[in-house]
Amino acid sequence: MTDRPRSATAARVAAYRLGSDRIAAGYGDAAADDALAADVAGSQEVPAGTMARYLQARTGFFDRVVLNALAREITQVVNVGAGYDGRAWRYGKPGVTWWEVDHAVTQADKQARLARLGIDAGQVVFVSHDLAEPGLAEALTTAGFRPDAGSLVICEGVTVYLPPPAVETLLGELRALATVATRLALSIATSTSDADASARREQFREVVAGLGEPALSQLTTADIAGLLERSRWRPVDLSERAQRAGFVLAAPAWEPSGVGSGPPTASVAGRFMEDMLNRSGTQALASHLESAYDIRVRAIKELDLGVHRVDLAGRQRWIARVFPRSRPADSALADAALLGWLADAGFPAERGAHPDAVSVHRGQPVLVTRYVAGRAARANPDTFRLLGELLGRLHGLDPDHPAARRPGGAWHHLVFDAGIDLEAEAMGALLAATRYRVPAAQAASLDALLTDVGTHSGFDGLPQAFGHPDLVPRNVIHTTSGDAVVIDWAGAGLMPRIAPLGPLLWAASAKPANLDAALAGYQMHVTLEPAEWDKLPAAMGRVPLMLAAWSFATGRRSLADTLAWWAAQRTAIDHAVGQLSSPHQS
Ligand SMILES: C[S@@+](CC[C@H](N)C(=O)[O-])C[C@H]1O[C@@H](n2cnc3c(N)ncnc32)[C@H](O)[C@@H]1O
Repeated sequence: MTDRPRSATAARVAAYRLGSDRIAAGYGDAAADDALAADVAGSQEVPAGTMARYLQARTGFFDRVVLNALAREITQVVNVGAGYDGRAWRYGKPGVTWWEVDHAVTQADKQARLARLGIDAGQVVFVSHDLAEPGLAEALTTAGFRPDAGSLVICEGVTVYLPPPAVETLLGELRALATVATRLALSIATSTSDADASARREQFREVVAGLGEPALSQLTTADIAGLLERSRWRPVDLSERAQRAGFVLAAPAWEPSGVGSGPPTASVAGRFMEDMLNRSGTQALASHLESAYDIRVRAIKELDLGVHRVDLAGRQRWIARVFPRSRPADSALADAALLGWLADAGFPAERGAHPDAVSVHRGQPVLVTRYVAGRAARANPDTFRLLGELLGRLHGLDPDHPAARRPGGAWHHLVFDAGIDLEAEAMGALLAATRYRVPAAQAASLDALLTDVGTHSGFDGLPQAFGHPDLVPRNVIHTTSGDAVVIDWAGAGLMPRIAPLGPLLWAASAKPANLDAALAGYQMHVTLEPAEWDKLPAAMGRVPLMLAAWSFATGRRSLADTLAWWAAQRTAIDHAVGQLSSPHQS
């Protein structure tokens, strides 16, 4: 321990907070917080005025952020530069652990006071760390913090005491520990620009310097955007007023490690987001295409994740698909070869836009195809019959052709160039890592979902064929000349025949006429074997199950909503299957 005194600024904030209105929670021990603050404040008097009003607003902001996170069932709170903040007691909730980071001397003083006051600190892990130095991520994980569990990080009234490069390092370290449910709340300097405000800021600098804790940075809202971007956070919208007061709320941005500052991402879900769902350099895509193909781009528009419509000078339009950096360029080249093969076979698929249809932009493979003008097919019996027929026709193509002979079937938002077994494996790993962000009471539900993921793809020994993994109406364009063209071929390859039939029948299952039409179209080309009929419910459930599990694992849906939706899909599938008659039934 150094001979540094305990933090006087932290003691002053505690004194101000004694007079603040606080939000009540249905849990915790507000009296413990008050007792600690009173003990710390002692006879210290704090004046009413601008500082008191500012701290009241700041306290309210951080209280709301904490209560919102706890309502989202966050189980880890990190309080960076915690000082004498008593939220870990005021808002102490069973099952939630708080990590308080500060200088050892302030922490020792706080712990001594808590012991003297008889206040238990079992929910708090004290991590002494000098925030001017790197290493916070490691210090926290060593102290039991789990990157795979969502967390709230609060850093209230602290950045001003750190030099700007240390703030950036700190944000990078915290980002390395983030997962999809993680949020970061910070306070920086207010950005009011009138003369009074500058005078108040100057006065603040004098006061804290007098307390031996000089202000080392004055980050404003103008600085924070760049700082967050470099440390791979994205701001969450707050009211004008909150922004002017210097309050910041951020969520992780899933730029791959190495792009910004800070150690690599530790959480499984975070790394998945970076590997599969991140695209960088979108702003520069047009100029990349212009130089790669010697064309002039008039306009470019992102239609879906990584899918861009490119309007060329003249009347031509292309689609540029930007794949993640984790996908090797060779595998995008195999997509291009596949499209060439389908063209030779006369199959109505989108076509490459150029003989060299694959380029690499910022390490990401880019495939260009000709834009198919028209509208997505409507979900009616004609469309489903056509889709069934097209799938049957694909199954009839030569599975030994080099362009066809790659594992297919897996959903390309989960894994590339893989069969459905690998898809289930990838989903299982992603889902298993969510265990740390699921409250104990829901652990059994998560186990049930994991079991379902493991049992909806065991189609070993069933007939294989070449197929498109997601032959549903939105992937078929009805052109102005009346043709139907199938798009989005990533994931096409060899797969059990029922792997793509399942999602087609699931998409059709809302209406008996659609379901009958899809099956009738398919059966014009393929006769299913009894073992395939037996596995149809699993094949139909596979895609909704993956969608459900993925939505939860990537933070888009709660576990409860996920399970409810999946249960409804399952019931609907059982009902639809009950109406199908297998020719093998007696
Ligand atoms: C103004 S106080 C705020 C305390 C608390 N966040 C609150 O709002 O009640 C600033 C805190 O940051 C801590 N701090 C400042 N610089 C630090 C550093 N380099 N390493 C660790 N803690 C630091 C101080 O010890 C102090 O507890």
